[in-house]
Amino acid sequence: MLYQEKHRPQLHFTPKENWMNDPNGLVYYEEEYHLFYQYNPHGNDHANMNWGHATSTDLYHWEEHGVALAPDELGTIFSGSAVVDKNNTSGLFESDAGGLVAIFTHDGASQQQSIAYSEDKGRTWIKYEGNPVIPNTEIKDFRDPKVSWHEESKQWVMVLACGDHIQFYGSPNLIDWTYLSSFGKEYPSYIGVWECPDLLYLPVENSSKKEWILIVSINADGPNGGSAVYYFTGSFDGKEFHPNETPQDELKWADAGKDFYAAVSWDNTEDTYWVGWMNNWQYAGVVPVSPWRSAMSLARKLSLFEKDGSLLLKQEAITADNSREEVSYKDETVHPGKPESYEISDTAQVDLQVSTASASTKWSVQLVTDQDEAFRLELDYKEDAYTFYRTDGLVDFSADFPKEIKGSLHGMDVQNLKVIIDRSSAEIFLNDGLTVSTNLIYPEGTVTKLEISTVNETLQLDTVTWTKLHSIWK
Ligand code: FRU
Repeated sequence: MLYQEKHRPQLHFTPKENWMNDPNGLVYYEEEYHLFYQYNPHGNDHANMNWGHATSTDLYHWEEHGVALAPDELGTIFSGSAVVDKNNTSGLFESDAGGLVAIFTHDGASQQQSIAYSEDKGRTWIKYEGNPVIPNTEIKDFRDPKVSWHEESKQWVMVLACGDHIQFYGSPNLIDWTYLSSFGKEYPSYIGVWECPDLLYLPVENSSKKEWILIVSINADGPNGGSAVYYFTGSFDGKEFHPNETPQDELKWADAGKDFYAAVSWDNTEDTYWVGWMNNWQYAGVVPVSPWRSAMSLARKLSLFEKDGSLLLKQEAITADNSREEVSYKDETVHPGKPESYEISDTAQVDLQVSTASASTKWSVQLVTDQDEAFRLELDYKEDAYTFYRTDGLVDFSADFPKEIKGSLHGMDVQNLKVIIDRSSAEIFLNDGLTVSTNLIYPEGTVTKLEISTVNETLQLDTVTWTKLHSIWK
């Protein structure tokens, strides 16, 4: 049955069938969140790129609408963004109230930027007859325009990925674009390319400040191999981005897991939300699922947190399930060598609050299936590191599907932990989402148990809560 196939996510958006990659055209308009995405309507591999389309009113339950933008003589439709042209700056709309404009890459003989507009809430699109609006014949990798309105300089600003750097463009009307500046060439060059950039202006927690951050997806050379998303903090003056980090600084990974890529934000919202593609280019084409291929991550609310003079990205997962069922245990003590176990379901959210009195510095949380497969997250404060083990289940479909995924705890003991399990994925949020690791899993069985263990010292937990989350598919 549709949506009931083996490994089919129940809490995450997947297309009914066929291939999906990056989220595109994220915009809030007339009470709907739009999710367009890289989509192959004809098969389960990366080819024939169209934009598929889904909408939501809560960023969690999605309705799929089918193809929104299809290839034409300029090429297939690669990634891009959408904005609400509120004042009809483009002149493309009959009414002064404007409408939706999509800005995307045409991937043909070369990569060029084009636009399309919609007068019916994104259901159908008319491509602008003067496309491309940013022609290109020279640069090989020149794609993924992310556009937003920059109020201070009163212009549309586009961030564009160009191989080993980012270019900024400005426009009064989404049609005529002027080159503003480049960023990133002086930063270490990687074996892959920069893709899917985004420029965000985020609130800094516990302050009245807002700061700019520049998002870059990089393929390859991520922290656990393959594709991954990182960010620079800094300022943007309407022309240039001025980073706080130097080329010698350690990279800041948005999500150091193996399966979170091409994440971009929704335009035209008060708070900032984003979503990423839950996969990795190293093995996206062979993950053992069908008739669909790939899921989006959960949407996440973004903010910044200042730690030791440095800004860190914070992500809070959105799970708008109004009929969730919660089971909670208070004041749990876990002794070394004696794991505590709890029955859970395979679409669940696990929340742990660690007591300030806890002595444990090395402990782990394990998801166990009815076929005794285990997926373990190990936390080691002394090493300032976590490791997620996905040794069991289907792992042999790709040599690049690693069994151990590692990341930093950013110098923080874990005060709280959230894991959202959805059949074939585990999204891990530590310390209110200051450390995030998103990873695919392919168990043969069904997750039924949570096990918490500690190595040497007693682990004291204020609460252990697990919440059954219901399928978003009717
Ligand atoms: C990122 C990406 C983009 C491109 C799209 C093609 O995953 O490679 O750079 O526009 O996917 O599907």
